[in-house]
Amino acid sequence: MSQVASNSTELFAQVMDPANRANPYPLYERLRATPVARLDDGFYAVSTYPEIAALLHDPRAGKDQRKSEVSVGARGVSPTPPFLFLDPPEHDHLRALVMHQFTPERVNAMHNRIVGIVNELLDARRDSQELDVVDDLAYPLPVTVICEMLGVPREDEGRFHEWADILAHSLDPEPGEDMEAEALRARQEITPYMLDLVQKRREHPEDDLISALAVNNDPEGRMDDANLITTLVLLLIAGHETTVNLITNSSLTLLRNPEELARLHEQPERIIRVVEEVLRYEPPVQFAQRYALADIEIAGTTIPKGAGIRLIFGSGNRDPQQFVNPDHFDPDRPDNQHFGFGGAVHYCVGAPLARIEAQIALTALFHRLVQPRLKVDPPPYRPNAVLRGPRHLPVTFERMQS
Ligand code: HEM
Repeated sequence: MSQVASNSTELFAQVMDPANRANPYPLYERLRATPVARLDDGFYAVSTYPEIAALLHDPRAGKDQRKSEVSVGARGVSPTPPFLFLDPPEHDHLRALVMHQFTPERVNAMHNRIVGIVNELLDARRDSQELDVVDDLAYPLPVTVICEMLGVPREDEGRFHEWADILAHSLDPEPGEDMEAEALRARQEITPYMLDLVQKRREHPEDDLISALAVNNDPEGRMDDANLITTLVLLLIAGHETTVNLITNSSLTLLRNPEELARLHEQPERIIRVVEEVLRYEPPVQFAQRYALADIEIAGTTIPKGAGIRLIFGSGNRDPQQFVNPDHFDPDRPDNQHFGFGGAVHYCVGAPLARIEAQIALTALFHRLVQPRLKVDPPPYRPNAVLRGPRHLPVTFERMQS
């Protein structure tokens, strides 16, 4: 038993090692030999599809770190955790208030604007024969979109970029002491900034999410200011380091699979299936954390009350028990029930927005670039193991059409 545990610990350490960021999948395959493995740091790594699905739906696997015995670093500092880190019923109440405003209509209303932003970004590289998918498209797009939806003044976008960056990086399981201090500073700066925006919108409401949440007359009630601020910050950062990776991972995967790129040219509507399959094959969020609120018996192991749990979505998405030929990129795969957006009560609130951003960005990119080619493969990766994706993705092309 201890032999298995230390093997899993060693494998998980290799997953965390930035040297393996470009391809963690062979390590996941080995981790799946022990579906639920106790690691030496006391966490339980869950790597197989049925066990991840069971725990996502198990109310004993909670998200509220205040109920656990695990040290949580900078994230534990917040006295008002965002609803991503809460359990029902508090979670459900706050989530419902958000969902009543972050509606499909509000997301769909962004469609033409997203097309406009994407084309503006690409136009900036029109006279070139090379672009960086990350810096030139995938990174600026989501932050511009969420700032516009929230109602953050355009001139403040730069500060938002920095805060969102730091706060998203601090979600790494091993963020490091510097990152914890930085996250604290970012939180201390963004809170008064948001509060000021909220107060301005209460005086002069506009057609944006900050106004909608700040002055809303929802029959289920209104958030107090502390919850409102953490919710707005959550909306800002949740889509930040995730959508960038969806667009970049999709570009990388298509350029590595020229036959799929050719099919996409013939049938542009395939983009919906392509993005869905990237969410399985190269998910931007590789793991999520839970805490055992009671002893949980699963796959022959007891996860004791208070222990931390890592649901390794990136591994579940490649589990041959669920997906035929899982290491094959196949947008035609039937019944693609991936964990790209998690599942159950914490299923991603921003999934519809992320999907249309990625679909629009990729459609325009591959329509406009003539003969695109990867300049380096594999590209350099960001160190973050949870929010995994390339730091840069340089692509050369013959020319860009309008
Ligand atoms: C490709 C882009 C995205 C991916 C891959 C992604 C992935 C995820 C995943 C896996 C979770 C569940 C975490 C867990 O179970 O612990 C989640 C939750 C969440 N996501 Fe996303 N996300 C993306 C974009 C967005 C966007 C654009 C927004 C908002 C603007 C957003 C807002 C949220 C929120 C608020 C939650 C918490 C839901 C809850 O706890 O009830 N996400 N996301």
